[in-house]
Amino acid sequence: MRNKISVVGAGNVGATAAQKLAERGLGDVVLVDIVEGIPQGKALDLLETGPIEHYDSRVIGAQDYAPTADSNIVVITAGLPRKPGMSRDDLLFKNYEIVKGVTEQVVKYSPHAILIVVSNPLDAMTQVALKVSRFPKNRVMGMAGVLDSARFRTFIAMEMQCSVENTHAFVLGGHGDTMVPLPRYSTVAGIPITELMPKETIDRIVQRTRDGGAEIVSLLKTGSAYYAPAASAVEMVEAILFDKKKILPIAAYLEGEYGVNGYYLGVPAKLGSKGVEDIVQIKLQPEEKAALEKSAASVKELVDKLSL
Ligand code: NAI
Ligand code: 2OP
Repeated sequence: MRNKISVVGAGNVGATAAQKLAERGLGDVVLVDIVEGIPQGKALDLLETGPIEHYDSRVIGAQDYAPTADSNIVVITAGLPRKPGMSRDDLLFKNYEIVKGVTEQVVKYSPHAILIVVSNPLDAMTQVALKVSRFPKNRVMGMAGVLDSARFRTFIAMEMQCSVENTHAFVLGGHGDTMVPLPRYSTVAGIPITELMPKETIDRIVQRTRDGGAEIVSLLKTGSAYYAPAASAVEMVEAILFDKKKILPIAAYLEGEYGVNGYYLGVPAKLGSKGVEDIVQIKLQPEEKAALEKSAASVKELVDKLSL
């Protein structure tokens, strides 16, 4: 039987993710949006791309959730994106209402699905999806660390003038200004960047990584990044559908790991057919631990505003 992946929100991230899912032949794709005609139009356009790009994925668009029934995975991208001058946190209350409503519908039609939340502010919105769905924690996760790490890897490769394929990086913590890029665990051909670059260079690209979302918002002016975010969500979908047991930095619900209890935070986790199958605990140095604690505190502050 074919996999079914639903993507809620047929905007920039959602439509780009749908395109990647279809092009990689990961399954049939259902695009849902509240704006009439947009998901249907984009879905038909993607369906008509199949003969050229050699895929047979059925892609359909809808305003309602009936076509999403029995999805294996639902990617939630519905919500407002950032505009220049806005922080991800400014989106909190508006996107709370949206993600809450979306999750209620998703759960009604796909009670066994795995949810990947993309909507911002990411860690808080993932907690909303967990709370509203009442799914077990392994089936509700957020996408941010894959994106933030990809940005870090891009800047490392630019600095080293090497292939991005030579790079590996981990960015942990919340998806916000307090995110925690980990230079010690970030490598080029297996060599930690701390041995390859002066501290000032590392500090500069760490800061550029933290500002990575805002840098693109300030260039686009009408929205936020979507190619890399969509690719990041699709990497997570692929790891789950192929039961890859792939360790990726994702927003996972923590119950004591990394000293955090009852909140989502970006940590390395193993993704497989059951969703989040394990949380990988790495040893952190005191300053890294302090940075992660600071990041966890800012996520907590935001989530607590929602009184979930
Ligand atoms: P967009 O504005 O292009 O698309 C959002 C879509 O959601 C729109 O088509 C809108 O009609 C739809 N929508 C709104 N309310 C809805 C509802 N109740 N049901 C169904 N659809 C609804 O925005 P974009 O760029 O696709 O970003 C989407 C979200 O993802 C934003 O919150 C953005 O901040 C977030 N984001 C998160 C990233 C991450 O790393 N976690 C990276 C990039 C974006
Ligand atoms: C990003 O990091 C806006 O969260 C989005 O690009």
